[in-house]
Amino acid sequence: MAHINIFDTTLRDGEQSPGVNLNKLEKLEIAKQLERLGVNIMEAGFPASSQGDFEAVRAIAQTIKDSSVTGLARTIKSDIDAAWDALKDAEEPRLHTFLATSPIHMTYKLKKTPNEVMETAVEMVKYARKKFPLVEWSAEDASRSDLDFLVSVVTKVIDAGATVINLPDTVGYTTPEEYGYMFRYMKENVPNIDKVALSAHCHNDLGMAVANSIAAIENGATQIEGTINGIGERAGNAALEEIAVALAIRGDKYNHSTNLVLQEIKRTSDLVSKLTGMNVPGNKAVVGQNAFAHESGIHQDGVLKEASTYEIITPEMVGIKSNNLVLGKHSGRHAFKDKVEQLGYELSEDKMMEAFKAFKQLTDRKKEVTDDDLFVILMNLQTDAVNAPKYELKAFQVQYGSSNIPTATVALKTPEGIHVESAGTGQGSVEAIYNTVEALVQEEIHLTDYQLKSVGSGRDALAEAHVQMTVNGIQVSGRGAGQDVLEASAHAFLNGVNRVLFNQTHSKRKSVHV
Ligand code: KIV
Ligand code: ZN
Repeated sequence: MAHINIFDTTLRDGEQSPGVNLNKLEKLEIAKQLERLGVNIMEAGFPASSQGDFEAVRAIAQTIKDSSVTGLARTIKSDIDAAWDALKDAEEPRLHTFLATSPIHMTYKLKKTPNEVMETAVEMVKYARKKFPLVEWSAEDASRSDLDFLVSVVTKVIDAGATVINLPDTVGYTTPEEYGYMFRYMKENVPNIDKVALSAHCHNDLGMAVANSIAAIENGATQIEGTINGIGERAGNAALEEIAVALAIRGDKYNHSTNLVLQEIKRTSDLVSKLTGMNVPGNKAVVGQNAFAHESGIHQDGVLKEASTYEIITPEMVGIKSNNLVLGKHSGRHAFKDKVEQLGYELSEDKMMEAFKAFKQLTDRKKEVTDDDLFVILMNLQTDAVNAPKYELKAFQVQYGSSNIPTATVALKTPEGIHVESAGTGQGSVEAIYNTVEALVQEEIHLTDYQLKSVGSGRDALAEAHVQMTVNGIQVSGRGAGQDVLEASAHAFLNGVNRVLFNQTHSKRKSVHV
């Protein structure tokens, strides 16, 4: 079987999903899980885009050892310099730089002639190679570019020192047949193409990102780029878990394999979903809640007689465990530590103590503590650990009755350490809390989405709230958990406000989006 390198861009293209903004610790947590999943390359961010992203990329580069860490840069010296500063401590520093090659992008966005594009690409790849041993160059909007222009520019960029050539379907426009043809054309017409790895990067606007990526593999691509759960700009990127499982299940047809540890897929998907606040639809291939559920009587009967009648992927293959009941009231520190480590978390002694305390508090109110509950505890710990001034919820109370106006009283500690308290009303309990918090924090907040779900099942399940909102015009998401739905809702709202505060204090570099 031929080998396909997996390039994960969950932390860069995935983070460009509207409303998703991960802080440094959250990115680091996902990066560690991506390393366990076995991705060959991870794109940790876009260092020149903001101070926060720069620091996250640097922390990931300094921590991750088993995957190659890369960062994005426009073909601009200052972007490449920022990427080098962030990535120089990595095991294998790698740059990803890009420039558009389609007539539409060159004319309207770049306002450059094809010759100017070619010169800039060559000059910047040469510049990058003075610092980085590995340089990937992407022909942005390759799928809408003239093939012969693409051949010329790719040939020159390889001569300039690029080690990977990526041909993205930036706007998700292409079809498997066309995209496959472009790869074949490059293989047949670029004289020095064998000196580089050839990469595919597909967006899902027409729902063909995974099919297009596989077509690229069939026509010479040796690297595939995508994200976990297919998150990303607009309709998202190719879902890496789907590609890896398709190659594994249909090895008879494709004859290519990846290094991904398939049993880590579910955990990675859960982590990304929780931290980004982007729920995985129940019918999503490979990781959706219903992907292994058999509803019709005929199917159930078939599966009971012989699973392969209707089940082509087993839940175990992608790491779904049927029983994740773990700890209870009488579980001691040792068992707790073992479980946390089994879940893949490395905590300092202090953090382990803190987590154990939170676990014990939870067992006072909840008999059975599952992996999902532990996950919430560990995630809250990470969010709280962000070392920046923030609003803290000190107390709240809500009065609700079918014939009263819902009223909330909220007490907060401000980032300056001042205790503030107020009361307010709303059409419902959540709105009453949110109106009161908004008045206390004195920011202009619009809630654009609110979702509530239980963590696992049972009447005593924890509640998890996700919000999307704008704070002074900045789009942000927030996440909170609690034993009570109102507590979870209040935490999610404040979490969103705190993220904007954090970004404001950490964005000395200007904010740039690709
Ligand atoms: O979709 C795209 O073209 C990109 C580039 C930056 C590679 O994400
Ligand atoms: Zn992209």
